[in-house]
Amino acid sequence: MEILHISAECYPVAKVGGLADVVGALPKYQNKIGHIAKVVVPAYDTKFVRESEFEVAYDAWSNYGNHHFSYRVLKEKTNKLGFDLYIIHIQGLTDRPNVYGYADDTERFIAFQIATLDWMAQWEHRPDVIHCHDHHTGLIPFMVSNCLKYAVLSKVPTILTIHNAQYQGQFGWDKLYYLPAFDLWNGGLLGWEDAINPLASAIKCAWRVTTVSPSYLDEMMDNARGLESLLRQERWKSVGILNGIDTEVWNPETDPMLGKSYNLKTVEAGKLANKKALCDVFQLDSSKPLFTFIGRLVDEKGADLLPDIFYNALQQHGNNINVLVLGSGDNWVEGRLNQLKDIFGGKYNAYIGYNEQVSHEMYAGADFLLMPSRVEPCGLNQLYALRYGTVPIVRRVGGLKDTVIDIGDGGFGLCHDQTSTWDVTHAINRAVDLYNDKKAFKAVRKTMMKIDHSWDKAALNYIELYQILK
Ligand code: ADP
Ligand code: GLC
Repeated sequence: MEILHISAECYPVAKVGGLADVVGALPKYQNKIGHIAKVVVPAYDTKFVRESEFEVAYDAWSNYGNHHFSYRVLKEKTNKLGFDLYIIHIQGLTDRPNVYGYADDTERFIAFQIATLDWMAQWEHRPDVIHCHDHHTGLIPFMVSNCLKYAVLSKVPTILTIHNAQYQGQFGWDKLYYLPAFDLWNGGLLGWEDAINPLASAIKCAWRVTTVSPSYLDEMMDNARGLESLLRQERWKSVGILNGIDTEVWNPETDPMLGKSYNLKTVEAGKLANKKALCDVFQLDSSKPLFTFIGRLVDEKGADLLPDIFYNALQQHGNNINVLVLGSGDNWVEGRLNQLKDIFGGKYNAYIGYNEQVSHEMYAGADFLLMPSRVEPCGLNQLYALRYGTVPIVRRVGGLKDTVIDIGDGGFGLCHDQTSTWDVTHAINRAVDLYNDKKAFKAVRKTMMKIDHSWDKAALNYIELYQILK
């Protein structure tokens, strides 16, 4: 089958979070099992896009409403990614340093979706499936089945994967004229609660809807920022498929970003060497357990509670633990996390910003990784932690619930029920006890590292889903 994935992010050319990791890995695994999976993303102006690695595939003009734009489709030509990657450069719109966060994001992603469909409409053949990821590509299922301009694509099945229903991309009806002509009687398919809502539209129009864990599918029915009733109505066509990880990129035995590589047999020495290197850089004490957090500093991740959690834990455990944070997001959380450096120098540090290299070093060098998320559709951090022998401390929610089993239940992680300072502090106390029980700690590390979370199974699950639609 030929599958075209359309997304705002794809590792390694454009990454903000887990969406990039998924879109940079799933197609590779689909190709491995004999399919042709391709990816299209906007061409941002980031250091990760090396122009010499791309060739021009198509050049044209298009428009959203009265706004005309020129766009260029570029194809990655090194074949090193394991799938064909196309990036669409739209002059004045995509060519910016960040993926999101501009006042005209609506226009940027509408132009991207229109350019993608214009380009596809003139291919000599049709793909078997168009697979859209999140709201940035959410108008595509509607446009494919309703816009006259794309009539040649109208029989191609569309799939929507919801990576996070908290973000929906709403904009006003005054921008309706941005879309290519369609029968206005069908305009209702675009809207939800007084606005055009790309995520809601995709839930209505896509042939199938997936999300990234079975538990998150259930949770969305009661917690999806206003889309609950729509999701319940469309549940018949929805399925939760747990994300995998790219075990070629995330492998402590071959990871080029690590100072010392290791595997199941050499995990103790390997992790210690990486921990020492990390502690040297961040002025921490490698003889004490190292607790970490990696991620976006937003409420959804429980990041607002981190300053209090770490303050309590560091007070309570005196000189017996270290904490290291890597993340960026809400300014006040960043500020408070920075302040803790002055109070707990030598046992606490924070890197405020985004750094892929440091993240790999932390998964390898840490003893524990905290994820006190309020909402976590899947979560990849805990899967990377497991693979690198780092014990996850997670709230039982979404994909965390589906992937981490508490040591008290014969598992390998530490789970808590609420995103609260009390619950997480209690889990940290349990972690310290585990760390001090050297035999149990070693056994847990080995158990975690043996778990297979590669994309092999999920890649097949998606193919089976597409096949139903043929
Ligand atoms: P989300 O997509 O909601 O942010 P995920 O757990 O699915 O959460 O994926 C997060 C991804 O982003 C992981 O690959 C994680 O290592 C990475 N990441 C998050 N914040 C940072 C950061 N500050 N520096 C480097 N990598 C980060
Ligand atoms: C979203 C979710 C995260 C998930 C990722 C990849 O960003 O917040 O939980 O792992 O998408 O599907």
